[in-house]
Amino acid sequence: VGAESGVVIVGAGGHGRGILEILRAQARARGVDPAVGGFLDDDEALWGRTCGGVPIRGGLETAARLASEGHLFLVGVGEPAPRREVAERLSAEGARFATAVHPDATLYGDVEVGPGTVVAAGVVVAASTRLVAHNLLNLSATLGHDCVLEEFATVAPGANLGGGVRMGKASFVGLNGTVIPGLSLGEGARLGAGSVLLEDLPAGRVAFGVPARVVDRSGNGAGSR
Ligand SMILES: CC(C)(COP(=O)(O)OP(=O)(O)OC[C@H]1O[C@@H](n2cnc3c(N)ncnc32)[C@H](O)[C@@H]1OP(=O)(O)O)[C@@H](O)C(=O)NCCC(=O)NCCS
Repeated sequence: VGAESGVVIVGAGGHGRGILEILRAQARARGVDPAVGGFLDDDEALWGRTCGGVPIRGGLETAARLASEGHLFLVGVGEPAPRREVAERLSAEGARFATAVHPDATLYGDVEVGPGTVVAAGVVVAASTRLVAHNLLNLSATLGHDCVLEEFATVAPGANLGGGVRMGKASFVGLNGTVIPGLSLGEGARLGAGSVLLEDLPAGRVAFGVPARVVDRSGNGAGSR
């Protein structure tokens, strides 16, 4: 399978490139050719160029045609809020979504991997965890058993979630963040890098530090660095 029917990655930046390499590693592990149908990006300056040797075919207005030709999509945007925005635009164009799970990730015991989800190398996910849709588990994150990640919930590299953690839609755990077992993060909540969450984090709130304390500002787009 090649460009004619492969996965289209939307966003030709660093994270999109990372997804390309996950798809390539997945294909190598299966002994098949990588099924990559190209990149889309709204930056016109990139059109006709390549990313990781794969053509950038145009902007999001191309998505409807590619969807009707049977291509599946993945969104190469790491931050949950803009990833959600792009995925919702694509869905409105009739797009359906692939998954990408690096062969060096370990998912064991009935882990659900919903559409649009990307799992990077080194991730470990324990039994009965549900990745509902459009989740991103970045390098070497670990998730205990029975976690639920709602749509677009995102776990940055090296973060650790105990068992039974619930992440609301488009919530975010930063680099090396730690969430003790059984806690919930509400929709759009953000835990900062290197922070340890010891109590539930309400929707839209930002917390950081050890132990993590809620700061008085909205979680919308704050601290994307
Ligand atoms: C927590 C976070 C969202 C806050 O972002 P913000 O609202 O823009 O915060 P600011 O950068 O304005 O920092 C405000 C203060 O909090 C401190 N601070 C920010 N993040 C912190 C963190 N994670 N741990 C400890 N202190 C932190 C800053 O040093 C600053 O302190 P000061 O007021 O004494 O100078 C952000 O800093 C963060 O940790 N983002 C996660 C990034 C990440 O992991 N990305 C993954 C990429 S793969």
